[in-house]
Amino acid sequence: MAQQAIEIPGQLESRIQSLAASAPTQPWLNNTEKELLKTEIKQLLKENNAQLVAHYYVDDDLQALAEETGGTVADSLEMANFGAQSDADMLVVCGVRFMGETSKMLSPEKTVLMPDLDATCSLDVGCPADEFAKFCAQHPDRTVLVYANTSAEVKAIADWVVTSGNALQIVRHLKEKGEKLIWAPDRHLGHWIQKETGIDMIRWQGHCIVHDEFKTFELQRLKKQHPKAKILVHPESPADVVDVADVVGSTKVLLGAVTSMPDKEFIVATDYGIFYKMQQMAPGKKLYIAPTGSKTQSCNSCAHCPWMAMNGLQNLRDCLKNRSGEVFVEEQVRIKALRSLERMLDFSRQAGLVKVAS
Ligand code: 13P
Ligand code: SF4
Repeated sequence: MAQQAIEIPGQLESRIQSLAASAPTQPWLNNTEKELLKTEIKQLLKENNAQLVAHYYVDDDLQALAEETGGTVADSLEMANFGAQSDADMLVVCGVRFMGETSKMLSPEKTVLMPDLDATCSLDVGCPADEFAKFCAQHPDRTVLVYANTSAEVKAIADWVVTSGNALQIVRHLKEKGEKLIWAPDRHLGHWIQKETGIDMIRWQGHCIVHDEFKTFELQRLKKQHPKAKILVHPESPADVVDVADVVGSTKVLLGAVTSMPDKEFIVATDYGIFYKMQQMAPGKKLYIAPTGSKTQSCNSCAHCPWMAMNGLQNLRDCLKNRSGEVFVEEQVRIKALRSLERMLDFSRQAGLVKVAS
C-alpha cells in the first residue's frame, strides 16, 4: 500500500517562517477603548445586515461579540456551514484567509469581509496550487482530498475538501468505495487519518507551525504534575503527541470532550484561543495548555496562531466602516472549487455533523 510522502521545498519553509515572524500584532486597548469599539461594531453590523463568523482561535473579545450579535463562533466546518445558510447580506469572517475564501465561494451573492486579508495559514502557504497540480497529474488514478486549510485554487483541483471535523467519516466512506487517495497538505493530519482508516494514501508534507510545536517529552512531564488530567490533542500535532492523547479531534470535538467527560482537569494541545469557549462551556474544569518546544524570545507560535492573532477589534471596526478587506475569488476557480466544497457540506449535513437550517 502506497504511503509515500512528498517533501515541500526549503524556500517555502523560509517563506512560512518569515510570514509568521512578520505577522503584525494587535494594539493593546484599555477597557474604555474596547467598549467604544464594540458599540461601534454592533451598530455597523446592524446597518449592513452583517454577521460575524469567528473561529475558536481568535481573540476573546471577537468571540464574545460574534455570540452577542447573532453570529457564530465555530470550527472551520461549522463556519462554512453557518455562512452558507445565513440570510445576512454581509459576512465578516474573523479567522484566516482560507475561511474567508470558503465563505465567499459558498455565498457569492454576499459581501465577505475580513479584518486583515493577509492573515494566512502555514498549510495554505506550504501547498502552492501549481506545484500541487503537477503532483496530482502524476497520479491520475487517485482521488484528491484536501484539507480546508488551502487556497481556493487548490480546492479547485480537489475532488473533496475535508476538515478535521469530518475527515475520518469522509475517508471511511471513500475507503468503502475502494478509492486510493492523494492527501494535502497537513502531514500529521494525513498520517492520523491513514492510521485510523487504513486507506491507501500519498501525502503532501505541509505542517501547521502552531501544532507542530507541541512536544511529547514536555507533555508527559506536565502530565506527571497533573496525573488526573486527560490529554486532548488536535490531529495537526505530531504523531508522537497524538499517540499520548486521551482524545484526538477537531476543535469542536475537543470542546465536546471537556464538557461531556466527567474528568475535572485537561491538558489541551491546540491553540489557546479555544480556552475562551472551553471555560465558558465547562466553567468548573481546570485547563492546562500543552507545552511547546519554543520557550525563547524567537517563538512565533507558542500555542497561538500568529495569523489568527491578526484579527482585532480595531481592524474589525475599520473593515466594516470602510468596507475594506473584501474577499474576492475568481469565478472560474470558484465554480471548480464549489464541487468539492459542496460535496463536503452535503456529506456533513447528511451525517449530522453540522446544523441544518430549519
Ligand atoms: P478546525 O477545523 O478544527 O477548526 O481547525 C482549523 C485550524 O486551522 C486548526 O489549526
Ligand atoms: Fe493554519 Fe495552524 Fe494557524 Fe490553524 S493554527 S490557521 S492550521 S497555521
